Amino acid sequence: MVYKTETLIAGSGVAGLFLALKLADFSEVTILTKTDISESNTRYAQGGIAGVFSDQDSFDKHIQDTLTAGDGLCEIETVKRVVQQGPSRIRELMEIGARFDRQPDGTLSLAREGGHSEHRILHAHDATGAEIERALVEAVRNHPKIKVMEHFFAVDLITQHHLGMYINRGFDGIECYGLYALELSTREVHTFIASQVVLATGGAGNVYANTTNPSIATGDGIAMALRAKARIANMEFCQFHPTALYEPGTRPAFLITEALRGKGAVLKNGWSKEPFMQKYDARLSLAPRDIVARAIDSEMKASGTDFVWLDATHIPEKELREEFPMIYEKCLEKGLDITKDMIPVVPAMHYLCGGIDTDAQGRTSIRNLFACGECSHTGLHGANRLASNSLLEGLVYAGIIAEFIKTHPIKPLQHSIPDWNDQNTLNTDEWVLISHNFKEVQNIMSNYVGIVRSNARLERAMRRIHLIYEETESFYQRYKLSPELCELRNVIACAYLIVKCAQIRKESRGLHFTTDYLEKREQVWNTFV
Ligand code: FAD
Ligand code: SIN
Repeated sequence: MVYKTETLIAGSGVAGLFLALKLADFSEVTILTKTDISESNTRYAQGGIAGVFSDQDSFDKHIQDTLTAGDGLCEIETVKRVVQQGPSRIRELMEIGARFDRQPDGTLSLAREGGHSEHRILHAHDATGAEIERALVEAVRNHPKIKVMEHFFAVDLITQHHLGMYINRGFDGIECYGLYALELSTREVHTFIASQVVLATGGAGNVYANTTNPSIATGDGIAMALRAKARIANMEFCQFHPTALYEPGTRPAFLITEALRGKGAVLKNGWSKEPFMQKYDARLSLAPRDIVARAIDSEMKASGTDFVWLDATHIPEKELREEFPMIYEKCLEKGLDITKDMIPVVPAMHYLCGGIDTDAQGRTSIRNLFACGECSHTGLHGANRLASNSLLEGLVYAGIIAEFIKTHPIKPLQHSIPDWNDQNTLNTDEWVLISHNFKEVQNIMSNYVGIVRSNARLERAMRRIHLIYEETESFYQRYKLSPELCELRNVIACAYLIVKCAQIRKESRGLHFTTDYLEKREQVWNTFV
């Protein structure tokens, strides 16, 4: 079937939903989402959203904290734009219905997290993402002009390639006409034609074996953009959150929010149970994430333990239970009373700082194709994202793209687009091959492309990923599409990009640490054109 719309948004997290609401009074909007509307990384966000709201705070301080965390690779104009537009977009989010915690006097309750010099994190207890997603979903569902198509899996972008034209990476006139999407209930691939397409498909945590991300985070948008030959940047910067609950084999790993360290919880060695962050950074447990995750990795290796402790037992019980109810309950289910017991934690893949490269308007290198949220690379995060700047970036860039689309109407498409071609492909029952390859990629990435990297490990990873790639592509040529096969291809594409970018960066900076190049060398972005 062929669907036509003006603006087609893939993804229903904070970026996709906020954009749809900002645009719907001006443009016909369709949202495609691969499972149900609420499922997203957004829904699981804990700590909150950063914004300058207190009198003590200033844009300059938030800008400086972002730049410091980004370790010399942030794009300064992007940082200013996001920090300065942040508070008004957050107010719009509150007008849409998101409720953040307040002090008894009615002012916003602002928490502090790693790398922030001030209290500036708006939050809804320790389940901020669930509140944001709730408010946005409710507003989208009530908007008569937004069409939401759940369980539609975006597979590939439509460009001149589908009109029979040969396109290589150097060609700068690529245009996007829509995308092909797999309807999960019927397994049919439909054609979606749109004046503009926005990728808001989130991150790629599932490239790694241990991640805080839900299973939907398989880098689909980034992989689609790569196949369409869009510019992708800085994929080596994979952010490992320092404190995921230690529960081997559990996916996703349950996050223990950084706000708990902001409240005073202290990291302690797994064996000696002594604080250790004083050996690594003057900001102790509240240093930026790259530093804390590396310190934990090094402590675990030195003491031979599989985890370190997070000690919150000195924080008054009432405050712990009231401010972190979800974490308190979740840990209690596992037999841990966080008011009395220390919490075993390990770093886990959490956030991808790189992605589809965009300009100041959220435009990608492909005409009529935009990207926002975690799948995009705007230049905000540089080599390491500052905590709680992600929801903020999604909101601000969704707002920017909406403004751009409103003021730059595009003529409807003249070309006729061919249907998806799956002739000569078969149904398969060889699911085990797909799931084994998926696990293999995750293990390769965790074993060789984790917090500490080296040339030898990256080479080994690349060779193995290449083999799995070839095997999977031949599978893809022969069999009908399934979401599992699509996700496997996308995870392989993201793994390839991460390793490739890591190989190109001959220095240690931010989240990319390699034993072969310990020093910083050059402040350049890795752009995969
Ligand atoms: P997402 O919210 O991930 O949404 C992506 C959407 O795209 C989903 O609806 C998905 O189903 C859909 N999709 C994906 N692929 C396809 C496809 N092929 N076809 C159709 N639809 C598709 N950030 C903060 O700023 N503060 C925090 O406190 C915080 N806490 C976090 C805690 C956890 C446990 C996690 C996992 C992340 C946290 N983050 C936090 C990061 C933040 O939540 C995400 O970066 C942000 O929510 C991303 O929003 P998004 O809209 O870009 O993507
Ligand atoms: C957290 O709550 O620690 C996560 C915050 C973030 O990822 O920005």
